[in-house]
Amino acid sequence: MLKTYPDYAIVNFDKLTYAGNVNNLADVANNPKYTFVQGDIIDLDALTKTIHEHGITHVINFAAETHVDRSIHGGAKEFVLTNTLGVQMVLDAVRLNKIEKFVNVSTDEVYGSLGLDEQRLFTESTPINPNMPYAAAKAGGDLMCNAYFVTHKVPVIVTHCSNNYGPYQFPEKVIPFFVFKLLKGEKVPVYGDGLNIRDWIHVTDHAKALDLLLHKGIAGEIYNIGSDNERSNLEITKMILSIMKKGDDMIEYVTDRPGHDRRYAIDATKITQLGWKPDYPREKFEHGLAETIAWYKENTAWVEQLWQKKHDQMNTFQKDLKRSNDKMQSAT
Ligand SMILES: NC(=O)c1ccc[n+]([C@@H]2O[C@H](COP(=O)([O-])OP(=O)(O)OC[C@H]3O[C@@H](n4cnc5c(N)ncnc54)[C@H](O)[C@@H]3O)[C@@H](O)[C@H]2O)c1
Repeated sequence: MLKTYPDYAIVNFDKLTYAGNVNNLADVANNPKYTFVQGDIIDLDALTKTIHEHGITHVINFAAETHVDRSIHGGAKEFVLTNTLGVQMVLDAVRLNKIEKFVNVSTDEVYGSLGLDEQRLFTESTPINPNMPYAAAKAGGDLMCNAYFVTHKVPVIVTHCSNNYGPYQFPEKVIPFFVFKLLKGEKVPVYGDGLNIRDWIHVTDHAKALDLLLHKGIAGEIYNIGSDNERSNLEITKMILSIMKKGDDMIEYVTDRPGHDRRYAIDATKITQLGWKPDYPREKFEHGLAETIAWYKENTAWVEQLWQKKHDQMNTFQKDLKRSNDKMQSAT
């Protein structure tokens, strides 16, 4: 946004949870048009103060607890607090401070699961039917957005985007997680048969879609965002292995995630009608993936710093996950 609109002042309001990292924005930290404020979106006073102090007119909410496995094995409370209550607090801040436009970034996971052989895709009128606690908490936020639009005329747009890939992604997400593991000479864990399908989009295409919707999206509407790029987890894994010149022997099949949604697939016709099209369509996925992997390999300082900082916490989570999986296996 700073590059595209040099006149805009951007305020980044972030709690800096384990997933937050100020170093991701080190290159703009000294830009006079950029301000960082540490805060929690469930704190209405802090939101209101920030809006007043900086004269904010438009809001995009990215803040969320996002790691599906944590929402299953680590408890869902933080997910409900940020993804549902937090959204409601942002809606109140938007309503009380007469914000002109608010884009709430949600996810395709709120639609639930499609069958592998089903012809249909998720459209904006597909009923929400979340299966994961993460997705249910995001759906709670979406429903609040609809209620605030209908009841209070809050100018809110909700987006449902597919899986993102690209640089700077926290290494609990599958692509950087696999890349980091392979860089360390470790095997990569693939859930179940590996045939679960996700629709993958480059993060810059997602960002450009949000920019478009902030300026041209219609309040009260939902917009799907996706690049028509369905891939099975196994296909992604094999692509990563091939780009990193590793063999299939580096795959370790592990117990499937409980309630693992089989397939997500997005119909993004509505946003393309507004003029959006991905720079990384399906044909360029392998190229985008190779660029992403090259970025992680080149930015070793970023990788190492993050790996060190998060190492203990990731380890604890992996151990909790294993314990929880073992418990489930012995119970069945
Ligand atoms: N990553 C994806 O593939 C994907 C796909 C579709 C939609 N989304 C949505 O995009 C958004 C961003 O996803 P991400 O992958 O960058 O997430 P992430 O987990 O990597 O980062 C979340 C950010 O939100 C901040 N945060 C968390 N709770 C907060 C709170 N209570 N108050 C203020 N800040 C808080 C964290 O500090 C962190 O900077 C989320 O809303 C997510 O649901 C992500």
